[in-house]
Amino acid sequence: MIVALDGPSGSGKSSVARAVARRCGLTYLDTGAMYRSVALVCLERGVDPADEAAVAEAARAIDIEFGDAADGSQTVRANGADVTAAIRTPEVERAVSRVSAVPEVREVMVALQRRAGAHGDVVAEGRDIGTVVFPAADVKVFLTASPEARARRRAVQRTGRNLAEDAGAVADAEEERRVLADLVRRDAYDSTREASPLRPADDACRIDSSDLTFEEVVDKIVALSPELAVRAAEERS
Ligand code: DC
Repeated sequence: MIVALDGPSGSGKSSVARAVARRCGLTYLDTGAMYRSVALVCLERGVDPADEAAVAEAARAIDIEFGDAADGSQTVRANGADVTAAIRTPEVERAVSRVSAVPEVREVMVALQRRAGAHGDVVAEGRDIGTVVFPAADVKVFLTASPEARARRRAVQRTGRNLAEDAGAVADAEEERRVLADLVRRDAYDSTREASPLRPADDACRIDSSDLTFEEVVDKIVALSPELAVRAAEERS
């Protein structure tokens, strides 16, 4: 079974997708990490993110591997190097929108993502999963939250904490404002680009997580499909 989870950055998608995957015994696929890896490789090689031919070349040659860290989180390797932390820097965040808007980059990444989902049992998280990558997914969710709630989550994440695990965590107010400005700019770019703009699939269930706890969002998603609920019960027993 395939669960497609789309939404803007900071909507809580990653934590939620990981939790749904763990609860239901499915594999988690973080497609944003794939675009981030391409952006990082370009930055490391001095490739200008605006040079579409060079960016596409880097995407065609990239080898991305996901692994499990000892604490249950996910590790990412690009061309053999551990890039788990390096793909989360502000420099990569600034470059990744340009890189992910290149049609050839998307073609290559979508092919890799479909391969990863070919045997089913995946929770794939991104921007175009329900619309392009897996249009026939069994469950489609479009997760949103207010820009302010999303900026708070991202800013807290940068302090090394996570609101999903620590509801009282706070970040510096100035950092939160910077993240909000970045996020609004990136949202506008991601949703107006020509290649696969961020938009909900017509048949996606929209969930606004602004006023929901992390557990409430996960519960809502599992409750969307009898098969997910059965799998969650099986995993518990
Ligand atoms: O979800 P994230 O913040 O890790 O995504 C990083 C970037 O990659 C973001 O700018 C949007 C882009 N992205 C995309 O275009 N398509 C996807 N399926 C996933 C991410």
